[in-house]
Amino acid sequence: MANLWGGRFTEATDASAYKFNQSISFDKRLYADDIEGSIAHATMLGRQGIISLDESRQITDGLKGIKEDIDSGKLMISEEAEDIHSFVEAELTRRIGDAGKKLHTGRSRNDQVALDMKLYTRRQIKETDKLIKELQSALLVIMEANTETYMPGFTHLQKAQPVTLAHHLGAYFEMFIRDRSRLSDIYERMDTCPLGAGALAGTTYDLDRDMTAELLDFKGGATRNSMDSVSDRDYLIEFMSALSIIMMHLSRSCEEIIIWNSNEYRFVEIDDRYSTGSSIMPQKKNPDIAELARGKTGRVYGSLISLLTTMKGIPLAYNKDMQEDKEIAFDAMDTVQDCLREFTGMIRTIRFNNEVMEESAKKGFTNATDAADYLVKKGVPFRDAHSIVGRLVLRCVERGIAMDDLSIEDYKAECDSFEDDIYEAISMKTCVDKRLTKGAPAKDKMMETISYYKGYLEKNSL
Ligand code: ARG
Repeated sequence: MANLWGGRFTEATDASAYKFNQSISFDKRLYADDIEGSIAHATMLGRQGIISLDESRQITDGLKGIKEDIDSGKLMISEEAEDIHSFVEAELTRRIGDAGKKLHTGRSRNDQVALDMKLYTRRQIKETDKLIKELQSALLVIMEANTETYMPGFTHLQKAQPVTLAHHLGAYFEMFIRDRSRLSDIYERMDTCPLGAGALAGTTYDLDRDMTAELLDFKGGATRNSMDSVSDRDYLIEFMSALSIIMMHLSRSCEEIIIWNSNEYRFVEIDDRYSTGSSIMPQKKNPDIAELARGKTGRVYGSLISLLTTMKGIPLAYNKDMQEDKEIAFDAMDTVQDCLREFTGMIRTIRFNNEVMEESAKKGFTNATDAADYLVKKGVPFRDAHSIVGRLVLRCVERGIAMDDLSIEDYKAECDSFEDDIYEAISMKTCVDKRLTKGAPAKDKMMETISYYKGYLEKNSL
């Protein structure tokens, strides 16, 4: 297939240099965006009288036909073209003849690819947002059913104080709220149209850049500086940064699920559909999906660092280095979407062993702070209460029992102020339900939070 730029050359590109230079093998996925951008450009060229209305119509009809044929599989994208822009233009000219050769009037592949990537990225941001929202909905279902499912909350991975499963998952719900708000910030900031910036310095044709921006639904209108327009990849870097943070959140949750699913913890059981076995050890049921999502986090971080590094030494304006944005960005976008889908599937089907979690909270002395607070309320100074309860915990450790299993004599032996109501005071239910500060796990507080989350999910979508 002929290049778009053959005129000045007397020799063909070296075959392996051509292969090195091409981008069709990966930018073919931009075809729909490339065509959408070209339709807007041709429409504007026609309305401005730069090409005739008839030519404009031939071009837009031709482009629509190409899109339909690629969508339906009737037309294969030939990898002989240098890039997707060359392919579409060549196919158009093959179909409609001379009018096709006018499509590129007042345009460069530099503003074209800048536009295509923005259109593509906008769609991916929306898709990512949708997937996080689905995950939040799945979390909310579990949260609603588990406002009284007691479990140990940890610090230093040591059992600390009792919380509920709803409260624990609520922490992730919050992280995903922030993730989605980052996505919407990025979307808003990147929502300006580079089309019409030309190669770098605009063009002498009377383009109406506001018209194309509007046709392509860029809320921020046309970009203000043509050199920046063709060399800005900030939005991709921001998106990959947001994707990295999403992966960090998923990875933390995967790590917990892996721990909770271990033979030692048994807080959860990952469903067979989201586990795999061992080729040698018949008893194994491994949390591979969670491990893979955790592992792929490194890959997404890598994309961010990779593009930051590629961009750091590029003088204005467009340089071919920037073609490197695509494989990196596509891989990060695909990876995060795959991880979100699989993670949500795993979460929807996971089983929580409520009794094991509650038992673990009790056995881990997560109510020790509450036992000390009990004494404080009876007039014992906190520092003394702390050491009295510390000695009681030691008794329990020696006997392998929970604080709830100590006899009232045991309690009284350490401090006279203990009475029969100590058992009620240190029950998991009391410990949790007394934690009524805003953001705390008490059922009443959690129900308020859950109803806030419901409202949030009804409203928030990109
Ligand atoms: N494939 C190129 C890219 O992805 C398209 C822009 C080519 N522009 C150029 N001046 N060679 O960046």
